Amino acid sequence: EKVVLAFSGGLDTSVCVKLLEEKYGMEVITACVDVGQPEDEIKRPQEAADKIGSSKHYTIDAKDEFAKDYAFRCIKTNSLYEGYPLSTAYARPLIAKKIVEIAEKEGASTIAHGCTGKGNDQFRFEATIRSESDLDIVAPVRDYNLTRTEEQEYAKEHGIPLPSEKIYSIDENIWGRSIEGGLLENPANAAPEDIYAWTSSTEDAPDTPEIVKIEFVNGEPVKINDEELAPVALIRKANEIAGKNAIGRIDMIEDRIIGLKSRENYETPGAILLITAHQALEKLIFSREEIKFAEMISQKYAELVYDGHWNEPLREDLDAVNDFMQRRVNGIVEVRLHKGSMKVITKQSPCALYNQEDVSFDDKGIDQREMIGMVKYHDIQGAEYSKVKKDLE
Ligand code: ARG
Ligand code: SIN
Repeated sequence: EKVVLAFSGGLDTSVCVKLLEEKYGMEVITACVDVGQPEDEIKRPQEAADKIGSSKHYTIDAKDEFAKDYAFRCIKTNSLYEGYPLSTAYARPLIAKKIVEIAEKEGASTIAHGCTGKGNDQFRFEATIRSESDLDIVAPVRDYNLTRTEEQEYAKEHGIPLPSEKIYSIDENIWGRSIEGGLLENPANAAPEDIYAWTSSTEDAPDTPEIVKIEFVNGEPVKINDEELAPVALIRKANEIAGKNAIGRIDMIEDRIIGLKSRENYETPGAILLITAHQALEKLIFSREEIKFAEMISQKYAELVYDGHWNEPLREDLDAVNDFMQRRVNGIVEVRLHKGSMKVITKQSPCALYNQEDVSFDDKGIDQREMIGMVKYHDIQGAEYSKVKKDLE
């Protein structure tokens, strides 16, 4: 029986290869979906797969698709879960989709993942796999209730090569880095500097402020500092500029799907920069009603993505409404970055509802006298209520 394992070369999935052979008696095909992990994390699974004994290894480049169809949706919806730009969460349904495609091509009966039974990823992977196939699913780490220490022992016993003694569990793609585990598990410990790879500390950031210019078309960023960039390159550029200026470190207590509170650290400089700029542009363009509605979309969209409901119909419905709204989100925003602070300093759009003449103190286009009646009766209910209150006393 063939099983396709979503493989990263990390501790959990390395241990899974052997467990699947030994305990489940399956022929293991490993597959690594490249959503922008560091280069050695793409190469390592390939080498590791050979050594550990998977029968076949796939590497699938899904970076463009991830940037365009997932990360850009995060920008267009301004979706944050409790302040987190969902970098891990957005990648899961795409990884699952790619693994399903391989399993079907290979005629495998089963898909395996290395998630623990405590996290969110088990929900996200399995929801997508089940809605897109009839394949069986196994999760060895969860089935055997393994701790990380037990996994390390098992790896040693079975001669499984591991990527150095990693203390943290790190998940990385172009949209962000998630760092968990080790001393971070105690919220009373300050996050040490060495968990960060994309962002400089406030102290080390340049002393001179940097102004970055971002152009949006249909709600999607297309240029940074007048340079036209494809989605992957654009996100990387945003990460570089914002990261250098100490933007995008998030250290938070997060409410997981199962209700556990967990201490999470993220580095998402580009995401924070692009969402901030995008949202500022929307304020110039959307009506008051649309702004309120866009906030509801953000909130709901973030929940759906966090909870792994990528294939829930409401997600597509929200995309349809939002894409229609985003066709007016065209324009240019300038953001000033300096030592961890970020300020939108200019915005312009051909679709702005902003009318400079009308709002100007120096213009007579709107006759102020016509407001007298409107203002007079503005709080008609408040005035009545004051009378009622007086009678009650
Ligand atoms: N808690 C985050 C999420 O649910 C990130 C999990 C990242 N995984 C990891 N192995 N560090 O989206
Ligand atoms: C895991 O627990 O398998 C990884 C982290 C998560 O799913 O939240």
